[in-house]
Amino acid sequence: MNNSMRQVTPNFSDDATRGLSVVPNTHVLDAMTEQEMPIVSEPKRQVTLNFSDGETRVFSVAPGENILDAALEQDMPVLFQCRSGSCSSCICTLKDGDANTLAGASSTLLPSEYGAGQRLLCVSQAETDCSFELPYSSEVGSNAAHEVNVFIDSIERIAINAVRLTVELADDEWMDFRPGQFMQIAVPGVGVVRSYSPSSTQKTLPKMEFLIRLLPDGVMSKYLEEVAAADDVLTLTGPYGAFFLREEHRRSPHIFVAGGTGLSPILSMIDTLHQSSGRKPPMLLSFGSAHAETLFALEDIQLREQWLPTLEARICASNGAVEGQHPGNPVSALRDDDVKDPNTVAYLCGPQPMIDAATSRLLELGVKAENIFAEHFVASN
Ligand SMILES: Cc1cc2nc3c(=O)[nH]c(=O)nc-3n(C[C@H](O)[C@H](O)[C@H](O)COP(=O)(O)OP(=O)(O)OC[C@H]3O[C@@H](n4cnc5c(N)ncnc54)[C@H](O)[C@@H]3O)c2cc1C
Ligand code: FES
Repeated sequence: MNNSMRQVTPNFSDDATRGLSVVPNTHVLDAMTEQEMPIVSEPKRQVTLNFSDGETRVFSVAPGENILDAALEQDMPVLFQCRSGSCSSCICTLKDGDANTLAGASSTLLPSEYGAGQRLLCVSQAETDCSFELPYSSEVGSNAAHEVNVFIDSIERIAINAVRLTVELADDEWMDFRPGQFMQIAVPGVGVVRSYSPSSTQKTLPKMEFLIRLLPDGVMSKYLEEVAAADDVLTLTGPYGAFFLREEHRRSPHIFVAGGTGLSPILSMIDTLHQSSGRKPPMLLSFGSAHAETLFALEDIQLREQWLPTLEARICASNGAVEGQHPGNPVSALRDDDVKDPNTVAYLCGPQPMIDAATSRLLELGVKAENIFAEHFVASN
């Protein structure tokens, strides 16, 4: 094959022509750049981030570039975790301009959420200059995730298919987190991580508790059931996530809807409200499971009702509900008069269908869309 230079002649729209030498197997565009040809590339977009504390940050992103990558390269305090459109940590709302999903990327956003302007920064590109509203303060995003070692204190079976894992941070280790946020725990010896939201609060550190559902053949489930023992060391990374108790709504009535181990971050939120100073807001917890025999932590909930006179709990079981329990799911337990204050704030955690149903019901009852926060426990694989 002849390896001598090729001559290329670009014809510009003003009829000017320039000679260009290109080595075989190199890109014509690279050669044009090196030989200072007048190439017109699309300009970068300006992206404006508006945080809930009123802070505004601006950064630039190239056409077709992943917005989250560009934001992180330019030290923007944005929350993220999976970087693949599945965890919703990087969710925000498009206010101005045009931003759409990168070709080939998938996202867990529903078409209705996308239509309402919601975007996942990790799978989005900016078509024009644009601005986003982020559902957290700039200070939250600055709380960088890091890795710590913990020792297992105990693994207690709390239902046929759930355990309470209690761990303690190793000496000199610390992990600040907000109630509702989650951590990733590495499954020892397997090389995979799973996400879990503590049911404990910042105040109980260095101890942390997690409510964990056991799944048939699940990697972490098998480890916890068959291998894990007291004093084993686990590696945790975090905190992650944009699902956490909002300080700015602390005085408003709270509705918590939890399905299964979705109760874990909700207990952390309720306990944090209990531990905070001042008058406690009215709180409604609707918690349920498909079968009465898989309900758990009922005594923990009862205790909280005693400590917190403003807390009302409704325990639900779709099958086998006993006296005092709601025979149905935690969404059907919501009543027409549950929302009396237009500033009511709601936190939902559980399977996606429960979150979708709870969101529709709460909107119908008068809760504002921007006051509904949700996390669904997507499968890690
Ligand atoms: C942000 C976040 C927070 C989470 N917090 C908690 C928590 O506090 N408590 C908790 O119990 N779980 C939580 N999860 C779910 C958890 O990370 C794992 O997905 C779950 O524990 C299963 O892990 P595993 O290794 O045992 O099963 P895997 O090996 O991951 O999966 C085993 C089988 O179960 C299916 N599967 C996995 N996860 C789910 C699921 N959530 N629902 C239905 N099917 C599933 C898989 O597709 C697979 O077929 C959270 C997930 C996310 C994304
Ligand atoms: S970081 Fe974007 S969805 Fe997980």
